[in-house]
Amino acid sequence: MDKRSTSPAPMSVSELDDLRTLIEERSAILFDASRERFFAPRVNQYLRDSGELDAASFLRRILNSNVQYDRFLESLLTQETSFFRYPDIFQVLERVVLPYVQARKMWNSPRVLRIWSAGCSTGEEPYSIAITMADKLQFFEAWQIEILATDISREALDRAQRGIYSGRSLRSVSPEQLQTHFTKVGETWQVKPRLQRMISFVPMNLARSVYVGRMDCIFCMNVLMYFSEERRNELLQKFYDALEPDGHFFLGHSESMKSAPVKFDSAVLGDCQYYVKPTAAGTEQKTALIEKQS
Ligand SMILES: C[S@@+](CC[C@H](N)C(=O)[O-])C[C@H]1O[C@@H](n2cnc3c(N)ncnc32)[C@H](O)[C@@H]1O
Repeated sequence: MDKRSTSPAPMSVSELDDLRTLIEERSAILFDASRERFFAPRVNQYLRDSGELDAASFLRRILNSNVQYDRFLESLLTQETSFFRYPDIFQVLERVVLPYVQARKMWNSPRVLRIWSAGCSTGEEPYSIAITMADKLQFFEAWQIEILATDISREALDRAQRGIYSGRSLRSVSPEQLQTHFTKVGETWQVKPRLQRMISFVPMNLARSVYVGRMDCIFCMNVLMYFSEERRNELLQKFYDALEPDGHFFLGHSESMKSAPVKFDSAVLGDCQYYVKPTAAGTEQKTALIEKQS
């Protein structure tokens, strides 16, 4: 049979608009004009791969089934990530965030350090944070490390929970880190339970309000592009509120805080721009605290 006769016609402009509206209403994720070149081809590819007869029956199917809708939405989300994706951000974590938290919480009991990886995809980011904690935090065993790793994609979180990696995603992991924190299984590497115990993987749509408690540090890298400016601003406010005073915040390299309603202090180390929630006491006092302790 001629394969073309079984393929559904590409979606029309108005059908694509309906779909965009449905996704924004249902999940608060926006595929706006800046993502146009990506949106239509992915939708049409999904239509072909899932064996749909036409756009109308596809729209009916995702309207009537949460499972079908979630599967479709996941196919639109880019899950690209890797261990230590931006090495300079992990330098800031090691050289700025950890010394500061160590100095500030030295006498706390229990000594708890909480970090949120928001939009963690398949887990490489929170595991890189956990490796940095294990390798660089002084008196590591005396700390209770809690890494909250959230994503809207359950499929990505399942892979994160399994913790099995190979190939390019591991290219920035050193041979020593591989030996210390992973077990070789055939051609793949499995994260050891010691790292896994530090992390809770939780499904969460960042556009919905959920209480996560206070954080010392938040990573939200390469996720803001999924939101309208209004929702992005709400999200930045939510991160700001969740951070401890002097808490640190990281965005992806091509993202910025332009037009954000919240006033983080910004700082640069090497190639990395990072953000700090200001306190009344100010950053000078913070620097003095780190110097005194080191
Ligand atoms: C490009 S990945 C970024 C992964 C990692 N943060 C990094 O920079 O390497 C973007 C992730 O954001 C997630 N995401 C998109 N919209 C989301 C939402 N509304 N709530 C939670 N996660 C979302 C996607 O499922 C995807 O895993």
